[in-house]
Amino acid sequence: MSKIARALIGGNWKCNGTKAQIASMMDVLNAAGPFSANSEVVIAGPSIHLHNMLKNFRPDIATCAEDVGFKKGYGAMTGEISAEMLVDYGINWTLTGHSERRVGFGYPGETSHVVGVKTKNAIDAGMSVMACIGEHLNDRQTGNTMSVCAQQLEALKRALVAKDWKKVVIAYEPVWAIGTGVVATPEQAQETHRQIRDWLANNVSHDVAKETRILYGGSVTASNCKALYAMPDINGFLVGGAALKPEFVDIINCTK
Ligand code: PGA
Repeated sequence: MSKIARALIGGNWKCNGTKAQIASMMDVLNAAGPFSANSEVVIAGPSIHLHNMLKNFRPDIATCAEDVGFKKGYGAMTGEISAEMLVDYGINWTLTGHSERRVGFGYPGETSHVVGVKTKNAIDAGMSVMACIGEHLNDRQTGNTMSVCAQQLEALKRALVAKDWKKVVIAYEPVWAIGTGVVATPEQAQETHRQIRDWLANNVSHDVAKETRILYGGSVTASNCKALYAMPDINGFLVGGAALKPEFVDIINCTK
């Protein structure tokens, strides 16, 4: 299989950024000069900043929600933002299943079933989704990396129909690498990306395996992105900490 030509470089700002900090990072990105033609750039921000991002980013940066509602449409769902509401606003991308949402923040987190339902809701409303999967450290240490990823992928498969996969990008983010400075080696990441692609071929279809971009996430920086991107099954990145810094521009341009 030849490498998918167009990468996706995603940013994930999480629950970060005052108004002033967001404005200054947007200035950096807007002024950064032409991006690599091989990179599609999509940045996820906190809901409260989405309007500003959508209105003020240069046109080649897409604005992405960090999560989406469990139920469709409008109504009695205090605190939720539904896919339909995001699309009405002009937001056509969302993350789902980020590990921080899966583990919760001191209260029970999202199951793979919930992530599947949210992913389907977003796609039904017309959105594209970066669906996040990945194992914890003890899973890797006990040789269960792929069985954890497969269980998370299986829930997506149950929620989606064949044509929905065109709207899905998989973000493989080993939880032990997120925010720790401990990046997976290119070989470790490639091995799991390959297994994810094989899982798609065996469980969804060969076309989906061939066409689905699989991003790596977890302590990606300007200094490690090139070696990771050189791997045949790494089709871009989902970047947390470094997406809040000017070096994010170098990560975008590592696909040149
Ligand atoms: P990190 O986060 O780049 O700060 O490790 C990645 C993510 O959580 O998406």
